[in-house]
Amino acid sequence: MSSQIIPVEPFDYVVFGGTGDLAERKLLPALYHRQLEGQITEPTRIIGASRAALSHEDYRKFAVDALKEHLKADEYKEEEVAKFAARVFYVSVDAKSDQGWDALKKILEEGKERIRAFYLAVGPAIFGDISERIRDHKLITKNTRIVVEKPIGRDLASATELNDTIGKVFREEQIFRIDHYLGKETVQNLMALRFANALYEPLWNSAHIDHVQITVSEAVGLENRAGYYDKAGALRDMVQNHILQLVCFVAMEAPTSMDAEAVRDEKLKVLRALKPITSANVEQVTVRGQYRAGASAGGPVKGYLEELEGGISNTETFVAIKAEVSNWRWAGVPFYIRTGKRLAGRMSEIVITFKQIPHSIFDNNAGRISANQLVIRLQPNEGVKQSLMIKDPGPGGMRLRNVSLDMSFAEAFAVRNADAYERLLFDVIRNNQTLFVRRDEVEAAWKWVDPILKAWEETGQQVQGYTAGTWGPSQSIALIERDGRTWNDAI
Ligand code: BG6
Repeated sequence: MSSQIIPVEPFDYVVFGGTGDLAERKLLPALYHRQLEGQITEPTRIIGASRAALSHEDYRKFAVDALKEHLKADEYKEEEVAKFAARVFYVSVDAKSDQGWDALKKILEEGKERIRAFYLAVGPAIFGDISERIRDHKLITKNTRIVVEKPIGRDLASATELNDTIGKVFREEQIFRIDHYLGKETVQNLMALRFANALYEPLWNSAHIDHVQITVSEAVGLENRAGYYDKAGALRDMVQNHILQLVCFVAMEAPTSMDAEAVRDEKLKVLRALKPITSANVEQVTVRGQYRAGASAGGPVKGYLEELEGGISNTETFVAIKAEVSNWRWAGVPFYIRTGKRLAGRMSEIVITFKQIPHSIFDNNAGRISANQLVIRLQPNEGVKQSLMIKDPGPGGMRLRNVSLDMSFAEAFAVRNADAYERLLFDVIRNNQTLFVRRDEVEAAWKWVDPILKAWEETGQQVQGYTAGTWGPSQSIALIERDGRTWNDAI
């Protein structure tokens, strides 16, 4: 079975931060894959932009090296790579001065007019400078969009300021705020599961669901990002964006259609319904952790403080929160969320645990009856698993067994698992905002996160140590077990 490929109109992707890590690891390989799948039409160009003084040829070499490094051997096809390199160009521009902008304008105005996308794969400190220079050098056509990466601010005030700055130059419909979790196959599958089946929706509420768990666990540590990460921490880095977006997809009401505004209106309502966490309850409902030396990803690893220069930090590399969505559908249903670096493995999943049956007709010999669970696995092995109680096969007494209807997408469909960026980069060209985050969503998410940060400061809540390679601090286990529930730790 293969997915349907619909070619898009020719475009120019201008990647600011073109020599950076994101361009190298994600953007260039993603664009190459779309070419390989026949989705790019001519004349399409990819224009790297950054301060470095490089020639087109130098940047083509950078792009080819990036493909060599990040593609699987059978995906690297000499002829396709040569074709890809031929569409790659480079301009040296300075965000803080006018240097290079005329050259960028010249290249953009060569040949036929195309869809134009500016991708800001740079730090947010220069979003404003770049946007203003794009405007001042008259680079905005009627078919222009701008793509921005997180972090959109480090609190509500800075996010609002950043949104204002970009908003002075671009209209909201032209601004594509990327949250790459929304490009993951399984996140969209949540929409299909919920709204393309009659089965789940009647049960999708506090009358039938006991609780929801969302785990985004990583095996990696700081990855040379100490400068950014130590100022951010897990709450800002993962919860404010990716995890709250997952909460939205689980908790939202059915939008009237897949239209971008319809979907985002519903997500916004969820964000606004999140019950505030303050100094009064922060210690009961949140856990902060920081990894110590241990073993992870197959070998011994250093602790967070040893990785950091300076060695003193109260930044959380792990966070667990018992959250609540205060509305009719979800009142009383806890959403336990947790994420961390250097945990037991790379695993992200959403687990919906339904309520226990109200009364058992079976005697004790039948065994324990487990509550049904729906597990939506984002990574690795994307898929969906529904647990059910059945009768143990064979003659004899009635014994019950918990089994899973298990669908691994890789096994069920012989399609390559495309990276989230492939879909999102092309949604920008297709002008489809459904999987991008609207300004009011970003701000509503900060409105919930800010008081938690403040409460941590006010109460002086410290990070709890956890050994690298485990599931986080014991306080995280206590957070859920206090309620008579348990984390789903299967990798
Ligand atoms: C990024 C965070 O947004 O997401 C990183 O800044 C994190 O700290 C990454 O490692 C996780 O993404 P994925 O797709 O590997 O789960």
